[in-house]
Amino acid sequence: MKAIQCVQWGPPDQLRLVELADPQPKAGEVRVRIGAAGVNFPDALIVQKKYQVQPPLPFIPGAEVAGQIDAVGAGVDERKVGQRVVAFVGLGGFAEKVCVDARQTVPLPSAVSDEVAAGFTLTYATSQHALVDRAQLKAGETLLVLGAAGGVGLAAVELGKLAGARVLAAASTDEKLAACHAAGADALINYSSVEVRDAVRTLTDGRGADVVYDPVGGAYTETALRSLAWRGRLLVIGFANGEIPKIAANLLLLKELSAVGVFWGEFARRDPTGNAKMIGDLMTWLAQGRLRPTVSKVYPLADAARALEDLLARRAIGKLVVRP
Ligand SMILES: NC(=O)c1ccc[n+]([C@@H]2O[C@H](COP(=O)([O-])OP(=O)(O)OC[C@H]3O[C@@H](n4cnc5c(N)ncnc54)[C@H](OP(=O)(O)O)[C@@H]3O)[C@@H](O)[C@H]2O)c1
Repeated sequence: MKAIQCVQWGPPDQLRLVELADPQPKAGEVRVRIGAAGVNFPDALIVQKKYQVQPPLPFIPGAEVAGQIDAVGAGVDERKVGQRVVAFVGLGGFAEKVCVDARQTVPLPSAVSDEVAAGFTLTYATSQHALVDRAQLKAGETLLVLGAAGGVGLAAVELGKLAGARVLAAASTDEKLAACHAAGADALINYSSVEVRDAVRTLTDGRGADVVYDPVGGAYTETALRSLAWRGRLLVIGFANGEIPKIAANLLLLKELSAVGVFWGEFARRDPTGNAKMIGDLMTWLAQGRLRPTVSKVYPLADAARALEDLLARRAIGKLVVRP
């Protein structure tokens, strides 16, 4: 099979397209013929040795896939050859085939394409876990989403609306904000030209937002804290701008704010049942058309490095997907 391999740590342009033997499923595993693989920020960090997980070299990046099962290992009863599934594989997704524990696969509704499904699980599960489990977002509350046209950001916009919140979307270009508007955002803030805190104050009659979803980090985080209402919650999602912010505790004290950490992958490991239930709900809403993920670009497998470069250069809107 063809695969994209990381043979040395470094920027995405050092990734290699290689020919490897097909992987064989072990007991309890299925092999998925990959129809599409989602491109995620951690994929871009992991090949540069900048992620918390550092696999031994060489390895195939690509954390999530959608496709068709083409072989099953011993002892697998609940999955069949020919069945379409999505799977969170962690590594191995930028390839034609990957083996994965059968329990990590979720059947794919026929109405959902591989391209849409491949980029769905990580972003929507992260945002749903953040908004509902961690921030306890309620209908009628105001949610401010930073980096709102990115992968997790656009998912947060849609899921915030589904939860009944009023969603303020903040992003760096008008093109990105148009995507947020299409995803249902109630108000748009271009933070390249407008001060976020002032804009939120105006949009909330001086009250502030109840919840801020922050996948960007750096200086944006203090702005986010200062944009919160009394007893507001700051969701710490990630640091796409590369800088881990320090949070001034006096800001928490003054308005009884909460800073709330979010780590979907670890939640999924600790509570597989709760996670499976949540992903089942998300898949149902996806099949029903209540969620409409934006896939802005599909790259051939050989161009996986370019997909990662576009993500790192802030060029992505919604999801990017690699298709073998
Ligand atoms: N906690 C968790 O469980 C979890 C799960 C998944 C992802 N994450 C993290 O969430 C973050 C976003 O992931 P994603 O997949 O949504 O990425 P993404 O699609 O690239 O979105 C990130 C957004 O951040 C903004 N940004 C600001 N400065 C940036 C910079 N210097 N480089 C890149 N983007 C910048 C960009 O929007 P503007 O141009 O509009 O500013 C971009 O749209 C990452 O840090 C990722 O590791 C965390």
